[in-house]
Amino acid sequence: MKILGIESSCDETGVAIYDSRDGLLAQALHTQVDLHALYGGVVPELASRDHIRLLPALIRQTLSEAALAAADLDAIAYTAGPGLAGALLVGASVAEAMALAAGIPALPVHHLEGHLLSPLLSDDPPVFPFAALLVSGGHTQLMRVAGVGEYELLGETQDDAVGEAFDKTAKILGLGYPGGPQLAALAVRGQSGRFRLPRPMLHSGNLDFSFSGLKTAVFNIVSSPDWQTEWAADLAADFQRAAIEVLTSKALAALEQTGLRALVVAGGVGANTALRAALDAALRRLGARAYYPAPALCTDNGVMIAFAGAQRLMRGETPQGGAAIRVRPRWPLAELASPAASRA
Ligand code: KG4
Ligand code: ZN
Repeated sequence: MKILGIESSCDETGVAIYDSRDGLLAQALHTQVDLHALYGGVVPELASRDHIRLLPALIRQTLSEAALAAADLDAIAYTAGPGLAGALLVGASVAEAMALAAGIPALPVHHLEGHLLSPLLSDDPPVFPFAALLVSGGHTQLMRVAGVGEYELLGETQDDAVGEAFDKTAKILGLGYPGGPQLAALAVRGQSGRFRLPRPMLHSGNLDFSFSGLKTAVFNIVSSPDWQTEWAADLAADFQRAAIEVLTSKALAALEQTGLRALVVAGGVGANTALRAALDAALRRLGARAYYPAPALCTDNGVMIAFAGAQRLMRGETPQGGAAIRVRPRWPLAELASPAASRA
């Protein structure tokens, strides 16, 4: 079964072809980072226009690399949400139109399901059931994953996502966009312990998170008259340490609460090496193990969408493509599971 996957939910245009027998056949990825850097964040209208500009060419390139024509595909999977409405509509329109022309089904895919299932593409994949820590620019969630499509929300952020907190803190420290990787690089050069930052909701007794206060604490330090710019690396290190401490502690609590011993870490912040080191060490003490997608699959890409689409088709799901083009900018992942499994 050959599935073309299209990702266009935010600032990456990703296309890939996944074969359920032979694995990944081809992929192409274009990042809009340079386009948005000038504005210090993603400009939705510019994102949509850039997806329109590049998506057809990336699809042609991917098909030609795999030596396939559209008619050779079994389905086209596309990110239908969550994400930016206009950006999602580009991928949805192209996928639905192309599927209609080729006489094959189009399959709407949940972006976070793509992230969540991407570690299954590695040589040493986790087995169901597992816990999952989703840490991206828009989401911070802990889930219990019993199988494809069986997602139970255990806890989530009450305000900013952790990637958003990294990006905002980076901005406060005068770093460029996207801030996460730059803040992480600055933290390596710093020494933690100079600043006392909060660990929001560390002892809340549940698996929810909060990161906006952490970013505000950084803002207050940088705004104080005593602030010295040569402390920036130390502050980055303290911010990262606080964020990682909360993520690690809640991930451990999720494993303890569910009795699971495998933790999948997915989403852009999962690329953070300090987070990986802290999780690996903490999980080892519990006799548990963390699973990560390949570094190239941590941030947004078409491969994870093609793969998630393939998993759904292999479960016998029959997509209702061609009838209408609908996207869901807001779309709780737990809605993919049976209503009884999702938290109100
Ligand atoms: O999953 P993703 O590519 O896009 C969303 O769906 O949001 O995640 C992007 C987020 C951004 O906030 C980015 O700053 C963050 O992931 N990020 C990182 C690192 N690499 C990407 N945050 C911390 N450390 C990193 N190494
Ligand atoms: Zn993402």
